[in-house]
Amino acid sequence: MNVNLIDGKKVSKELQIKLKKRVSSLRQKGILPKLAVILVGNNAASKVYVRNKQITAEKLGIETLNINFDKNISENELIKKIDELNNDATVDGILVQLPLPKQIDESKVTQRILPNKDVDGFHPVNMGKLFTNEIGPQPCTPRGIMELLKYYNLEISGKNVVIIGRSNIVGRPMAAFMLNEDATVTITHSKTKNLKKITRQADIVIVAIGKAEFIDATYLKDDAIVIDVGMNRNKAGKLVGDVNQTSVSKKVKYLTPVPGGVGPMTITMLMQQTIELAEKRIN
Ligand code: GUN
Repeated sequence: MNVNLIDGKKVSKELQIKLKKRVSSLRQKGILPKLAVILVGNNAASKVYVRNKQITAEKLGIETLNINFDKNISENELIKKIDELNNDATVDGILVQLPLPKQIDESKVTQRILPNKDVDGFHPVNMGKLFTNEIGPQPCTPRGIMELLKYYNLEISGKNVVIIGRSNIVGRPMAAFMLNEDATVTITHSKTKNLKKITRQADIVIVAIGKAEFIDATYLKDDAIVIDVGMNRNKAGKLVGDVNQTSVSKKVKYLTPVPGGVGPMTITMLMQQTIELAEKRIN
């Protein structure tokens, strides 16, 4: 069995062509979609993510407002900036790159962003909408995964979906997306007993645990669909996912590579949501 690689780079490129047209049409109406990106401190990975978001935005014609704070900034100073952006009618979306330094309460910051500028979909109001299957901004990584499955015509209804990882950014919202598409969903995590027994039942496995090459073929059934959300450096310094790609390739039917699978889709979905928020200015 030859594995089919799910090409997130290609799908992203195609989607971005359409997004660019939507931006042009907004700009013709005098609306300049604008994304504010706040980075606190100098976490190397966060800096790369933020830079990539800014580059993609500019490529599509989306304005960016880039705000960098020292890692010692107080929670109050950050909140003050968010309030200012909430009140700025030229700003459509506000993104605070996570993780934040220890002195800052992440949930307080997330909840301060107005739900209708919450381009990451992390505000509890938007999370609630996702869980009740209503329209609103949604977390970009799981949304990107849903787009990939749709693009490859992979059926979700009635399938056993096992999610490994229960983060607010991926695992939990991923479960809601899958449930909304009528999957039977199991969320597993670091305290789960007999993980292998559970993952071997899965038609679709989504791995988001941040452990380099943790999942090998023994965790999976034949012909499974495997979505690898991981972005880690292995001992040799190479960028790898949470899945041992060489091991699972011989067994599974579909696999997202790292890099070039889920990663590009997260950024594309962020752009799409910025545009969707900007389009609300007309509707
Ligand atoms: N850190 C890791 N992933 C994300 C994301 O999707 N959005 C933000 N704001 N921070 C992150």
